[in-house]
Amino acid sequence: MTFKIQDIDPEVDFPALTRCFFESYEDPPQKFFHVFFPTHGTGIEAREEALIEASERLKLWHTHDPTSRWQKIVDTETGRIAGGALWHIHEENPFASPQPATVTWFPAGGSRTFVEKALENHVRPRSKAAQQPHIYLFIIFTHPDYRRRSIGQQLIDWGIKKSNKTGLDIFLDATPYGRPLYEVNGFEYVEENVNVPLTENPDDAWKEMEEKVGPFTFWLMRRPARRGESNPKT
Ligand SMILES: CC(C)(COP(=O)(O)OP(=O)(O)OC[C@H]1O[C@@H](n2cnc3c(N)ncnc32)[C@H](O)[C@@H]1OP(=O)(O)O)[C@@H](O)C(=O)NCCC(=O)NCCS
Repeated sequence: MTFKIQDIDPEVDFPALTRCFFESYEDPPQKFFHVFFPTHGTGIEAREEALIEASERLKLWHTHDPTSRWQKIVDTETGRIAGGALWHIHEENPFASPQPATVTWFPAGGSRTFVEKALENHVRPRSKAAQQPHIYLFIIFTHPDYRRRSIGQQLIDWGIKKSNKTGLDIFLDATPYGRPLYEVNGFEYVEENVNVPLTENPDDAWKEMEEKVGPFTFWLMRRPARRGESNPKT
């Protein structure tokens, strides 16, 4: 099997890319995923609606954000998307002015407030440590059918090359599953982030979210740029 890294085609790729993304985060399941990409309800229909909503939103975010760079990995024998990554190349400090998240993917009320708090908590360590131009790895995934075949590595290599060329450090928020990949690529731990959204008056929608998502932990990691160097893994 051979795999090729390519820029995505935003007009064509988001539905298949999003399906691959969902299936990657479902195996093993990661509860925090619901905060960013929810399935409202149960059953096949609800899941298909969630995929459509996520695909349209990812496309909108990408096409309206000049810092956004999506790569996909394609299985050259079948044409199937095997993995992907979304980077943000911040040539200016993105935290120079406050940018509260606009959560459109939950209805107004307790569930939306919960997600707003969760996102605020999620970004807090980086908003302190990365007050500078930098590269942010927002999303990375390899489909379960293709794990441990250096697909994650190919995606990381793209960002490291960019970092070493531009002199911009890379930051990311690691899940437990991403940590080994980042450790072997010279990322250092900055801060553990145990995310527990809090409110004084939780309504039923908030409590439902709390039960579904629970506290979730990410680790902020950083890889300093090494101008002119190639990735140590390659
Ligand atoms: C994290 C993830 C992208 C890794 O993708 P992958 O394509 O399987 O990783 P690679 O094959 O490129 O791994 C490269 C190296 O990273 C390390 N590594 C990757 N996954 C590992 C694991 N599960 N256990 C131990 N080491 C691992 C190894 O050193 C590996 O090299 P090796 O296979 O020669 O030993 C994938 O597990 C995934 O999609 N997980 C679910 C989504 C997720 O949590 N993404 C991370 C968000 S921060």
